[in-house]
Amino acid sequence: MVILGIESSCDDTSAAVVRDGVLLSNVLAGQEVHRQYGGVIPELASRAHQQHIIPVTHGALTVAGVRPGEVDAVAFTSGPGLMGSLLVGTSFAKGFSLATGAPLVAVNHLQGHVLSHFIDVPEKRLPHPSFPFLCLLVSGGHSQLIVVNSFLHFDVIGETIDDAAGEAFDKCAKVMGLPYPGGPIIDRLATQGNPQAFRFARPQAGGLDYSFSGLKTSFLYFLRDRMADNPAFIEEHRHDLCASLQHTIIEILMHNLVKAAAQTGIREIAVAGGVSANSGLRQRLLDEGKMRRWQVYLPELRFTTDNAAMIAITGYYLFLAGKRTAPDVTPTARIRH
Ligand code: KG4
Ligand code: ZN
Repeated sequence: MVILGIESSCDDTSAAVVRDGVLLSNVLAGQEVHRQYGGVIPELASRAHQQHIIPVTHGALTVAGVRPGEVDAVAFTSGPGLMGSLLVGTSFAKGFSLATGAPLVAVNHLQGHVLSHFIDVPEKRLPHPSFPFLCLLVSGGHSQLIVVNSFLHFDVIGETIDDAAGEAFDKCAKVMGLPYPGGPIIDRLATQGNPQAFRFARPQAGGLDYSFSGLKTSFLYFLRDRMADNPAFIEEHRHDLCASLQHTIIEILMHNLVKAAAQTGIREIAVAGGVSANSGLRQRLLDEGKMRRWQVYLPELRFTTDNAAMIAITGYYLFLAGKRTAPDVTPTARIRH
């Protein structure tokens, strides 16, 4: 069974082909255009998707050695995400479906991130978590703790009440004058800094929920005060600032994850989403896992940030479960669970 996956929810255009659960290709075009603005500009993102979607899909089919007529279903991200971006992938998937007769399968982007743990690749065996597992989903738009009972049944037991973890990285990076997206840059600079150098607020949202907006504000005020005495403070302490900020975000994330694991009794622990690429978070999960006898699942780096492989694999499991999407489907920017 051949599934074509299409992802266009934010600023990456991606297409992937999965055959019987095995990834044959995963092609991605990023969008440099947003860098200079310090964040994603929705209008520019939609336009770039329009430019990329056909070459990217053509590339994915070519690398996989699959003709359009051999595709059994077209899986596409139907939300959450930027409406203009989602419309490009959705409309393209509809056109492909109409031209080839392959049915449509709408995929929730967040479910895609979680199920990235089930992507099989031809060259090696990747470990799959067993159900039920606990997934810390941390991206630029979302921070959630999810009990994953099966491919299709998820319970969100905690989530952010304001900013996502990736947003905390990106917004604080912007305050330091770093380009967008700041998360990977902070990760790199943090490796040469002292994580205990500075202390920032660790807001608690109650229960298993997260809150990051207080951290951003505390970071901003801290820098403003220090800069008043020393205008070169950021340049002189860049590595320590990044290491301390990253350490604080990881502490906040781990606090509720540990609580959730204790409350649910689940020891299969997975992490997903763009922030799961963070080297500090990955190491901390491995250390904590060893100490607490968790089985920890870290996605391969190429499957952490937005990609169509995770959409194709999710489409594969939805298709196997008999899910089909009507051709009058429209994307949803915000999805309630
Ligand atoms: O999953 P993703 O590609 O898009 C969304 O669905 O939001 O996540 C993007 C987010 C950005 O905020 C980016 O800064 C963050 O993931 N990110 C990282 C790292 N790589 C990407 N944050 C911290 N460390 C990284 N290495
Ligand atoms: Zn994402």
